[in-house]
Amino acid sequence: MKIVFATHNANKVQEVSALLPSLELLSLDAIRCHEDIPETAATLEGNAHLKAFHVFENYGLNCFADDTGLEVAALDGAPGVYSARYAGPENDAVKNMDKLLKELENKPNRAARFRTVICLYLNGRVHYFEGSCEGSISKEKSGCKGFGYDPIFIPKGFDRSFAEMTLEEKGRISHRGLAVAKLIQFLNAL
Ligand code: IMP
Repeated sequence: MKIVFATHNANKVQEVSALLPSLELLSLDAIRCHEDIPETAATLEGNAHLKAFHVFENYGLNCFADDTGLEVAALDGAPGVYSARYAGPENDAVKNMDKLLKELENKPNRAARFRTVICLYLNGRVHYFEGSCEGSISKEKSGCKGFGYDPIFIPKGFDRSFAEMTLEEKGRISHRGLAVAKLIQFLNAL
């Protein structure tokens, strides 16, 4: 089965392709969708839906889209749905991490979790899948793999950041990996 993963982020397509060997995953570039799909909703669910619906409506293809946020307990769930642009509109990972480390400087509670919501449009019907990964924000960056906040996120039960893990290791425990596992289970049961 061919299915579109509505993202321009090559890192994410690579991560999810590794978890979905039985499907042919098409990126937005592969279907020549070069426009920026607006992510203007106030929730992860809303943004995932906006992206999947855009592809379904304009290209008539089965499609799924994800939206992820880093929810920090001491900041009442921020940056959450605004994780990409936490430090400004340019989605600069280093600036985002530096801002978060500064916000947490005097806060003893460094608990955080990543949460991913996937919205699937399959033959015109909508389905949602969710995965989360609990952990904490380290005091400094470590590791150079991955992307986004990976160098400062230590998953619960580990003493290494996501950025110090291989793609496979991260995929087994990550928010996106768990949400994708639910998506796969659903698609395999059809
Ligand atoms: P998106 O909805 O997947 O594009 O994620 C929004 C933002 O959350 C990204 O721009 C990253 O800053 C951050 N993010 C999402 N997934 C991850 C991850 O697996 N590791 C680190 N940061 C992530």
